[in-house]
Amino acid sequence: MGTLISGGSVVNADGSRVADVLIEGEKIVQVKDKIPAGQHTVIDASDLLVMPGGIDVHTHLDMPFGGTVSADDYTTGTQAAAVGGTTTLIDFALQTQGRTLREALQTWKKKSDGKACIDFSLHMAVTDLGPGDGSHGLREMEEMVAEGITSFKLFMAYPGVLMIDDALMFRVMQKASELNALCCIHAENGSAIDIVVAQMIAEGKTAPHYHASSRSPKAEAEATHRAIALADMAGAAVYIVHLSNAYALDDLKHMQKRGARALAETCIQYLVLSIEDQMPGKSWDEAKYVFTPPLRERWHQEPLWQALADGSLSVVSTDHCPFRFADQKALGRDNFTKIPNGGPGVENRMQIMWHFGVNSGRLTKERFVELCCTAPARIFGMEKTKGSIKEGLDADILLWDPKVKYTISAATQRMATDYSMFEGWTVEGNAAKVLSRGELVVDNVAQPGQFLGTTGRGRFVRREANAGGLA
Ligand code: URP
Ligand code: ZN
Ligand code: ZN
Repeated sequence: MGTLISGGSVVNADGSRVADVLIEGEKIVQVKDKIPAGQHTVIDASDLLVMPGGIDVHTHLDMPFGGTVSADDYTTGTQAAAVGGTTTLIDFALQTQGRTLREALQTWKKKSDGKACIDFSLHMAVTDLGPGDGSHGLREMEEMVAEGITSFKLFMAYPGVLMIDDALMFRVMQKASELNALCCIHAENGSAIDIVVAQMIAEGKTAPHYHASSRSPKAEAEATHRAIALADMAGAAVYIVHLSNAYALDDLKHMQKRGARALAETCIQYLVLSIEDQMPGKSWDEAKYVFTPPLRERWHQEPLWQALADGSLSVVSTDHCPFRFADQKALGRDNFTKIPNGGPGVENRMQIMWHFGVNSGRLTKERFVELCCTAPARIFGMEKTKGSIKEGLDADILLWDPKVKYTISAATQRMATDYSMFEGWTVEGNAAKVLSRGELVVDNVAQPGQFLGTTGRGRFVRREANAGGLA
């Protein structure tokens, strides 16, 4: 006896059709025009879209950063994701300089053990290969890949904390190439930005919006080009995270045309928020939008949308890195450099992409699935278990109501912040029900905003090394 999702319109990245979906245990076992109800538990999906659960490949849960720790832990963060229709996350384990990758992995396993409520995986941020020729760190990279951590994060920003130099980056890229692993890059020229930041502070420019002016689109474009060029020299596949502006996009496209194995994501905030609308430089409230890269001028949004439609950008993530406004963002009340960088979004990604992408006609519903579910699974080596409604895959299923109206608010969200970046926005389209490996974990119709599964049920996903699907 299984669960039968009956009469819905099944949307995959490669096409849509009305079909029934049969789940047995944790897996999808049949997708067919008509499946008899028999003894199965039936979920009527006749007015709903049946899509793969969302995959958000860029989150920071329970992460020490900016003098504090991100507000969502693995329980609240994964529950918020599920409520918004996302069934898998890839979070970041951060190596502390002077410590090993193994220690970073142990630290993040402790954070997630018994707490994750949906499936998750980890990228490993490399900040140090150890003494001498780095052979210890390079060996650890091999171990990580053998254990299913097949993407490495490299920071070109945050000097003194996470930033690495070109030599270390190149060495890691060479090793990643050998291992078929993917290099994920935070691309901003951290050294140049630090000079501008110091000059601004010296001039008394301490308000939140100076965070945005101190990190120019050109600093991101320069690093984007350099990262891809170095990866190309090293023979590695590269994935630029949180690409935020049209100049960086131009560099990405240029290098793609030259044949570099380069992919990139953007995040919901860069598609719908802007300096003009959220950070005009008038109030402390703008600290809510201090994240990195910062918000850009509004004109950058349309080229990003076009790139999502034409395939130059492959994925939309959130860079969910939540901090409470009242006591965490407040650390930078007198100095924007002390405002913890990051914003909450994991719960809203599918809503924002549907409303502003599909409803506006910028994306088809199939492209929405590609960007939010299927490409993340393929690029990050999970396509054999996640990212599509296909026989044999995990029954991570999102029943989507394209017509329901939902007003986003901190008062009703599951994320642990005291504000929303999209406060009061009404979107059309929201998750009705969410299944994770066959289990109904969210029913936003019967119990809106509640997570129905047990805490700790989420599993670590071991991923394949496939060079971002570009091998
Ligand atoms: O502001 C951000 N994005 N915080 C998280 C760290 C990062 O750079 O992704
Ligand atoms: Zn980053
Ligand atoms: Zn991030």
